[in-house]
Amino acid sequence: MDLNKEAILEVIKSTIFGKTLYIFDAVDSTNKVAWHLALEGKPEGTVVIADYQYRGRGRESRIWFSPPGVNLYMSVILRPKINAELISPLPLLSGVAVAECMSNFFPEKVSLKWPNDVLLSGKKVAGILMETKVRGNQVDFVILGIGININLDVTTLPEELRERATSMRAEKGEVFSRVGVISDLLYHLEGNYLLFLNLGFSVIKARWLYFSPLYQPITVRSGEETISGIVTELDDRGALFITDDEGKIHRILAGNTLLT
Ligand code: BTN
Repeated sequence: MDLNKEAILEVIKSTIFGKTLYIFDAVDSTNKVAWHLALEGKPEGTVVIADYQYRGRGRESRIWFSPPGVNLYMSVILRPKINAELISPLPLLSGVAVAECMSNFFPEKVSLKWPNDVLLSGKKVAGILMETKVRGNQVDFVILGIGININLDVTTLPEELRERATSMRAEKGEVFSRVGVISDLLYHLEGNYLLFLNLGFSVIKARWLYFSPLYQPITVRSGEETISGIVTELDDRGALFITDDEGKIHRILAGNTLLT
């Protein structure tokens, strides 16, 4: 298998992320494995990667298509020493890191769809699932799960996903090094995370808006309500402001469902 620990440790450019590294042939979900490792006390920056997930998890209890040999399924343990209320931008931060990583190969094609889908030519190439353990105001740990379709043959996607999903290989017509993508991703993820801890969300927000400019039309489900309008602001918690046709402003936090 191309995903071996020595090969990855040899090329990673990050200083903390990936220094404690677990590579598996098959797991149910790397987020689940990382969660148990975090409960055992594994340090910040611990990374779990699997070649295959037999129960890959997506947002809102969806399944994340996770065949062997082609993609990246990775989870990172974070232990930010910040108030639990301040962690909501972390999925957006991860989206920025993946988008920056994709930009090296596809400078014109990359965009972000709030809160954290990464798109190539308007189709989803990567998804992020954040799971957290908090005690009162304190963050015990955060698991950032990232799935990237790297060398996936898109004709093998379940039919309902075929129109909406893509892979790096499908967009470029060539096979990518998974180890190379891991190295780039950990570098961008760590850089953005350290910026966030030191300076807050403002710099990350500017980077996010580069990949997802304001004043785009959007439709979001928030509880029972469906809100359509124009994106007019992203605040310091990563919440989106939508101005609807009647001029009413809605503030939507991540966790709501994007319909378009
Ligand atoms: C989404 O629905 O967009 C989020 C998908 C997140 C998938 C990744 S793959 C690695 C990690 N382990 C999981 O079970 N899910 C996340």
